[in-house]
Amino acid sequence: MAKLVINETKKLGKINAELYGHFSEHLGRCIYEGIYVGENSEIPNKNGMRTDVVEALKEMKIPVLRWPGGCFADEYHWKDGIGPKESRKKMINTNWGGVLEDNSFGTHEFMELCEQLGCKTYINGNVGSGTVQEMSEWFEYMTFDGVSPMADLRKENGREKPWKVDYFGVGNENWGCGGNMTPQYYGNLYRRYQTFLRDYSGKGETGKICCGANTADYHWTKEVLKTAFDHTPPHFHGYMDGLSLHYYTVPESDWDHKGSATEFTTGEWYKTLAKAEKMEELIKKHGDIMDCYDPEKKVGMMIDEWGCWFDVEPGTNPGFLYQQNTMRDALVACLSLNIFNKHCDRVKMANIAQLVNVLQSVILTEGAKMVLTPTYYVFHMFRGHQESELLDSTLTTEMVGEGEDKVPHISESVSMDAEGNILITLGNLSSEEADTVTVQFMDKKISQIKARILTGAMTAHNTFDEPDCVKEEGFTDYRITEAGDLAVELPACSVVQIEIRA
Ligand code: AHR
Repeated sequence: MAKLVINETKKLGKINAELYGHFSEHLGRCIYEGIYVGENSEIPNKNGMRTDVVEALKEMKIPVLRWPGGCFADEYHWKDGIGPKESRKKMINTNWGGVLEDNSFGTHEFMELCEQLGCKTYINGNVGSGTVQEMSEWFEYMTFDGVSPMADLRKENGREKPWKVDYFGVGNENWGCGGNMTPQYYGNLYRRYQTFLRDYSGKGETGKICCGANTADYHWTKEVLKTAFDHTPPHFHGYMDGLSLHYYTVPESDWDHKGSATEFTTGEWYKTLAKAEKMEELIKKHGDIMDCYDPEKKVGMMIDEWGCWFDVEPGTNPGFLYQQNTMRDALVACLSLNIFNKHCDRVKMANIAQLVNVLQSVILTEGAKMVLTPTYYVFHMFRGHQESELLDSTLTTEMVGEGEDKVPHISESVSMDAEGNILITLGNLSSEEADTVTVQFMDKKISQIKARILTGAMTAHNTFDEPDCVKEEGFTDYRITEAGDLAVELPACSVVQIEIRA
């Protein structure tokens, strides 16, 4: 039995839509095949973008997309990806499988994709192997509305008006694949590179993102902020609007044997969820350091890479990071998104890795076929939280698990939209035990309810032969008790979304 007490009169802050963000890298079959098939493909497309994938992502309400990497970003030279496709430079993707990159998907294609999706743009620049001039020219190319060498080049390439770049990342993982830098060295580079990202629109439209830590590297967070953050006017934001954090859920510590995506025991189920729950501690501890510099929380924590990282599917290219996606991924997504919601005062963006065919994807493709993964349905069921107000909610629940790997039986978060409708998202993290959750409001009388569920065996997943094994469905296993509370029966291994009308 779990009890959820909701104070619907206490709003704790806006849940940025960007918490439901995604990440697409030139890696394996994410961009090529997964999103971009080219105008001449037999797969239905608009300007080269797969129609089925675009439609599914719009239905899921994708709010923001990060591109072009990842590790790829710090060896990407944007000028190779503009102009006539036949004359674009070909390169080796040294990070991911050593395959040929023909640069047929570049800046114009990414912007076209985001326009089709109706989502915000997050571009990640190259600090590791690129110059300040290269980065600053890219920014000018994309955002300057006037006469200048880069704006003229953009116009020659068919785009008259500038685009809006909502977020710009100054390097990626510069503690690792982005240059193996020390935090002090990167902190100084950050100050320098971001200076030349000029605010051409005059509206301060682009949020600048500084490269933050990996997992529990609190030293990096402290030292980067010590070096790069500056309170003195006019730099109240310390030169930055966001500081990133990367955290992947990897069941086994040995990177050569991370564990299978589809074949696992209940022990591995709990180990994975316990590792995913570590996100809570990471947000608190990195957040405490950020508070020392930025107590008003003007700088967002941008968790721009997160998700499950398992062994690749047998027989696939190890450099392509292609993995299946089960109900375990769905529960990791549910737990993580509920945690992000609860920390919406500091966490302003999160981007699951990666959009299609790589790591914990929401979509898998094979030729013309497409399947939606269990993770897709979680994002779909949670989409009503975007731009809503987090409500104060307190949960009493027991711990479940095996050995040291214990997690709360139930995970939750609650929000209210502008019309006063309430959305409750619940996860039952037990692979075997159902649970009853009693939901109590301060004053609210519960009238109209609509609910949806995603459930299945812990290893259940969708394949190209059986695409609908796991899917979101209507849910009615709830009742109003004599005391006027809502009692919800959550099956083991399930995610439930409850909408209560105003
Ligand atoms: O998402 C895969 C890789 O993980 C990214 O390229 C990198 O930033 C991280 O290490």
